[in-house]
Amino acid sequence: MSWTPNTAKKIPVPSAQSTAIWAFGGGKGGIGKSFLTTNIAVCLSQLGHTVTLIDMDVGGANVHTCLGTQQPRLGLSDFLQGKVTDIEDLLTDGLSARLKFIAGVNDGPTLSRTHQDARNRLMSQIKKIKSDFIFLDLGAGASDFNADFFNYAHQSFVVTVPEPTSIENSYQFIRSAVYKKMRQIEGELGSREVFEKLMEQKQTLGIRTPNDLFKHLVRTEPQLGKTVKNELDTLNFKLLINQVRTKTDIDLGYSFKMVCRQYFGIDVAFAGYLDFDNAVWQSARKRQPLVLAFPSSHLAGNLFNLAKSLVESKQNSVIL
Ligand SMILES: Nc1ncnc2c1ncn2[C@@H]1O[C@H](COP(=O)(O)OP(=O)(O)O)[C@@H](O)[C@H]1O
Ligand SMILES: [Mg+2]
Repeated sequence: MSWTPNTAKKIPVPSAQSTAIWAFGGGKGGIGKSFLTTNIAVCLSQLGHTVTLIDMDVGGANVHTCLGTQQPRLGLSDFLQGKVTDIEDLLTDGLSARLKFIAGVNDGPTLSRTHQDARNRLMSQIKKIKSDFIFLDLGAGASDFNADFFNYAHQSFVVTVPEPTSIENSYQFIRSAVYKKMRQIEGELGSREVFEKLMEQKQTLGIRTPNDLFKHLVRTEPQLGKTVKNELDTLNFKLLINQVRTKTDIDLGYSFKMVCRQYFGIDVAFAGYLDFDNAVWQSARKRQPLVLAFPSSHLAGNLFNLAKSLVESKQNSVIL
């Protein structure tokens, strides 16, 4: 079977404008995604950037609590159900003029079962927002919805804590995002048959990982393999380790990167880490972002440095 390119269908991509769309996801709940997303957003706004924070956690929306603001009356579900047609009508003030906020949803199942058309509509509305940074705080788990928005962002951070279960879930999360990207590419290029044929023979060919699949593709259909590689190279995944207690915890970042290359055939840069600190729950009790509740704490310093290094890496493409 020989593959011929079909460029009729296009995967939505954020435009290469000055706005940077960053997604924060992870395989597990309760590891600090919303804490990190909110605090990094506050740091960037304090450094003079405009930031729009969107709570995209299906069923577990709590960014308003992390920010210490009231839950707005309208949220993303109103947009997805067609009650609000312009996403900018959902923008509310989130602590300062430079930090805007779009609330999450209460009827989670509606969002997770959203049709691809509604997701595409949401993607094109997100990129309309005028802001230096747009942060997507995704819910936990390797759902199709999370994979879509994780792949959509310019930079996508997988957050993990240094525990075997969380690391395992992070690999599952990345695996689901990579497979989703491959399915999108198949659709876009009209090459579904080629992939299906390879998958039918996966036992005999020994295909166990996305990277195995990719290697067989390069062998059987070099031109398609090259095109798929170029598309996969557009993924910009990075790892953030939260709640670090020892040096060994930090080293996990480097081994994670190696495993991702080997199994998924993609680079997942180690973007940084954050220490475990009791100041986090104290700030949660005060219903304030940590960097505002305890600005001179060790962790607030960590967060500011992390935020600065992420902005620098965006500008210089420097990765750890
Ligand atoms: N670096 C940290 N040190 C101590 N506790 C943390 C840290 N990061 C997050 N936490 C705590 O972990 C819990 C879950 O955080 P949250 O941001 O809601 O997770 P997620 O969005 O991944 O579900 C919160 O109680 C938060 O206070
Ligand atoms: Mg959360």
